[in-house]
Order: sequence, then structure tokens, then C-alpha cells
Amino acid sequence: DGLFTYDPGFMATSSCQSAITYIDGGQGVLLHRGYPIDQLAKHSNFVEVCYTLLFGDLPNDEEYADFQARIRNHTMVHDQINNFFKGFRRDAHPMSMLCSVTGGLAAFYHDHMNIKKEEDRVISAVRLIAKIPTIAAMAYKYSVGQPFNTPRNDLSYAENFLYMMFATPSEKYTVNPVYANAMDRIFMLHADHEQNASTSTVRMAGSTGANPFACISAGIAALWGPAHGGANEAVLKMLDEIGDDSEENIQRFIDKAKDKNDPFKLMGFGHRVYRNFDPRAKVMKETCDEVLEELGLADDAQLKIAKRLEQIALEDDYFIERKLYPNVDFYSGIILKAMGIPTNMFTVIFAVSRTSGWISHWHEMLSDSYKISRPRQLYTGHDQREYPQK
Ligand code: CMC
Repeated sequence: DGLFTYDPGFMATSSCQSAITYIDGGQGVLLHRGYPIDQLAKHSNFVEVCYTLLFGDLPNDEEYADFQARIRNHTMVHDQINNFFKGFRRDAHPMSMLCSVTGGLAAFYHDHMNIKKEEDRVISAVRLIAKIPTIAAMAYKYSVGQPFNTPRNDLSYAENFLYMMFATPSEKYTVNPVYANAMDRIFMLHADHEQNASTSTVRMAGSTGANPFACISAGIAALWGPAHGGANEAVLKMLDEIGDDSEENIQRFIDKAKDKNDPFKLMGFGHRVYRNFDPRAKVMKETCDEVLEELGLADDAQLKIAKRLEQIALEDDYFIERKLYPNVDFYSGIILKAMGIPTNMFTVIFAVSRTSGWISHWHEMLSDSYKISRPRQLYTGHDQREYPQK
């Protein structure tokens, strides 16, 4: 005791070895299994990225078809899951529903729960990747009082998610291909990011031998906070508060973010690892421009505010000195909003995507030797003292 390193926030601690994702924060590089994120975002698709994260290499045609079929085979949830939702108030935050229902899945899959067996772990990974968009869309449907949609396996992963979100029994629903492409890209861009807070949480929970559904539920809980996955929701709230792209309004918020007596931070700016442009933010900004152009919303007020805010912040000494750049979430919210996705579903969508990364890390950890995560602390409390005798 006393020989431990004190490292609050794990700023200087590597908690594990991993071959999944590489980040060079100084250069703004992000590789999944060696493939640069911008190349994946342009040429791959989310299901292929899931396969690559989980198994280590891009699939060949046969492996891809097989994985796709396995995912499709597991998109439905047990009928009893419908009853879980009924216990929630209609205005419950969908992250709260996602977190609990995902944890609840463990009660349905007692088969294939031997976490020491590779094939069982893969089955759980497939189940989670397949079912998480179904649960996410159910959370949305429940909140708006519409019936749940059964997944459609003739559609792609992103198309099916949009279908489950927006189709109603009263109208024939066709998925807009621009939306589906943007959704798939958003899924790819959020799929993994090495040992962030939620992934570390999943690994920590997994290190106790907890079941995979419980571990992913723990990850969802950690993602919920505004300093992590909740940031895209917080960005739109901030843009709303700024109101318009006048210099005066934007400067007021920049000054607020710089004020050390004010806890406010510029949402969608800064990152623990990147001290350069977040490579995901670049692709996200391009996607945002494409989607809004396609939808005839290039003059969108929030997009204008976001662009001006980015410009002013990047020229400000405070942000330059601290190497603060827009992160992945600065533009994702604007795209999601343009597609009609309500703000409180943004973090849910992040969770749908990140499930692929979380479960790949869990699988990787259990494939090798590992130790239970058990950090120590610097004790700052009382010395031993006597309980008063009355
Ligand atoms: N606005 C204003 N100042 C900032 C910001 C910001 N967004 N981010 C960091 N700083 C300042 C911070 O106050 C500190 O200043 P000083 O050295 O004078 O005390 C300096 O920059 C270094 O920042 P830090 O707080 O030590 O950095 P961190 O690694 O602990 O925090 C962060 C990283 C992402 C939590 C933080 O930048 C933040 O809160 N950003 C806003 C929330 C956000 O956009 N989060 C999404 C992250 S990306 C998606 C994800 O992975 O979930």
C-alpha cells in the first residue's frame, strides 16, 4: 500500500491491451483494425464495420453474407419485452428505457451464456447488435404513443432502424436513401473509440464475469452523461440557446465557455485524446453538408450558428492554446435533427452504434487472460477513531 500511482481520470494509465482501435490524438488519426475511419465511412457499411471490429479483419463476401444473415435472424425481441415498456411513463427518457430493457435481455437468453466459450460470446454479440436498434426504436414509439414496428429483414441495418422509427400502420413508408446513407455513416462513425468512459465501463463490468447484456447496460448508463454520449443532445440545446448566428450572441457563449468561474463548456468541442481535429468530425461535417443540401436545408439556422461558432472558436487564443477542436458530436445532432429524429434520441443512436465497439472489447477481453478491474484510491478520510460509548 502507498506504492500505487495516483491518476484521477486515468490520464496516464493504459488499462488493457487491445488490437481493435488505434488513435493518435496529436495527429488526428483513428484506425479500426488498421483501417482509417474516413475510408471506412466512405466505402464500408455499418454491418461490415461491426464484423471487422468483432473478428479483426474485413469479411470476404461469404463471411459478410453469413454475418448479415445472422444479424437479421436476431432482430426481433421476445414478445414479453413489449410489457417492459408499459411500466415506463410516456415521458421517460429513451436512454432510461434502453438501459433497462437491454439489461433485461439477460433474462431471456439463458442459453449460450457461457462467457468462456467463444461461440457463445459471438452469439451474444450478434444478439446485441441485432436487437439494440429494435429496442431503441421501441423506446421512441412508446414515447410518441404509436405501435411498435416489427423489424424488416429485407432492409439494411440503417434502413430497418429508420423504418422501425418512422413507419406507421396507416401509411406506406419508404425509406429515404439520403437518410439511410447518413444514418449508416453516423453508425459507422460512432462504432468504437478505444478505452473511452463507456467502453472502460463495459470492460470493468465484464471483468467480474457479468453477463454481456448487463455489461452493455452498464455501458449505456456511462454513455448517457453530457460529457460523453449526451454531448450531441447538449450541442443542439446550446445552438438553440444561442438563437442566431450574430457575432454578438456567439461571442457571448464563447466568453462564457472561457470563463473559469462559469461551469459552461462549449458542447461538441474538446476531447480527452484528440489535440487536433477529430477525424470523425471532418466526415460528419461533410455528411451534414450533403444531407442538408439534399434536403434543401442548406440555410438551416442551427447549421449557420454551428459553422460560425466553429470558425470563431478556432480563431480564439483560448481554444488554440488548449488545442480544442470540434469533436464527432458537433455536427451529428444537426444531421439527426434534419432527418426528423427527436433530440432525446441522439444519445440512444450513439448507443446503438457503440454497442458494436463495446461488445467487441468485451469479447476481446474474454478471449485472453485478464484480471478483475480493481483500482485503488488515495484515502483522505479520518484516521482510526473510537466509537463513542454512551
Ligand atoms: N469548452 C471550454 N473549455 C474547454 C472545453 C470546452 N468544450 N473542453 C475543454 N476545455 C478546457 C478545460 O476547461 C481545460 O482548461 P484549463 O486547462 O484552463 O483548466 C482545458 O480545456 C483542458 O480540458 P480538460 O477538461 O482537462 O479536458 P478533459 O480531457 O478532461 O475533457 C471533455 C474532455 C470532452 C470532457 C471536455 O473537452 C468537454 O467537456 N467537452 C464538452 C463536452 C463534449 O463535447 N463531449 C463529447 C466528447 S466526444 C464524444 C464522446 O466520446 O463521447
